[in-house]
Amino acid sequence: MLAPLNFVQQKKLNHRKGALVFFNLKPNPLSAVAMKSTCYWFVLGTADNLSRGNLAAVRILQELLPEPGRLQFIYADLGDAKAVDNIFSQNAFDAVMHFAAVAYVGESTLDHPKYYHNITSNTLTVLETMATHGVPTLIYSSTCATYGEPEKMPITEETPQLPINPYGKAKKMGEDIILDFHMNSNMVVMILRYFNVIGSDPNGRLGEAPRPELWEHGRISGKRNRL
Ligand SMILES: NC(=O)c1ccc[n+]([C@@H]2O[C@H](COP(=O)([O-])OP(=O)(O)OC[C@H]3O[C@@H](n4cnc5c(N)ncnc54)[C@H](O)[C@@H]3O)[C@@H](O)[C@H]2O)c1
Repeated sequence: MLAPLNFVQQKKLNHRKGALVFFNLKPNPLSAVAMKSTCYWFVLGTADNLSRGNLAAVRILQELLPEPGRLQFIYADLGDAKAVDNIFSQNAFDAVMHFAAVAYVGESTLDHPKYYHNITSNTLTVLETMATHGVPTLIYSSTCATYGEPEKMPITEETPQLPINPYGKAKKMGEDIILDFHMNSNMVVMILRYFNVIGSDPNGRLGEAPRPELWEHGRISGKRNRL
């Protein structure tokens, strides 16, 4: 992982305000990332196609950031390169946090093309658009599914990435493309890999609420009996 963590730390230290587009906003633990980001950045836009997201989460964040224009919601599918280009044409972003994805291992084995389009191909679209518009920084949500079934535990940064399902493979390919962009340009990138995320906003404003049709695909939080 290339980790220009200093970028985030520096932003914290400077209390500088920057513009950020956050692809994916929904009421689950990862939304906490967006909530934390609002402390340090002047968040300009969040884009989602709402295929698995929830506008209620956007509304909650907008209530927390009531200043006009502070947090705009952009309805967009990252598979639509024109729509993605429009987002960047109409705004000046300093950074992108790319979290939007279909993210169910089981589903990926049943419908692998969906995963390669949604994860790998859309990541390429985001990167190309960032390059076209000179956006210098990307934070990418990958996954520990890229490690497959490691021979040795615990997993470290040195553990070989040998994914065993289309979800992990699609993310690994996304990572490889990102690293190529990094190596061939000034783009600064950070790739996050983690296992199942659990927990929500400690103040209870956002929590996990997966769509009923996705319950059977398994989440460790937000299951039917917890809603
Ligand atoms: N939840 C976890 O435990 C976990 C673990 C490791 C990695 N991740 C990664 O973190 C990211 C977020 O995971 P999550 O749990 O919030 O997933 P999620 O399925 O709950 O939410 C994904 C979001 O992306 C949006 N989206 C999907 N395809 C889109 C598209 N083409 N255009 C625009 N928006 C689109 C959905 O509407 C939804 O809001 C994903 O990239 C996932 O692979 C999640």
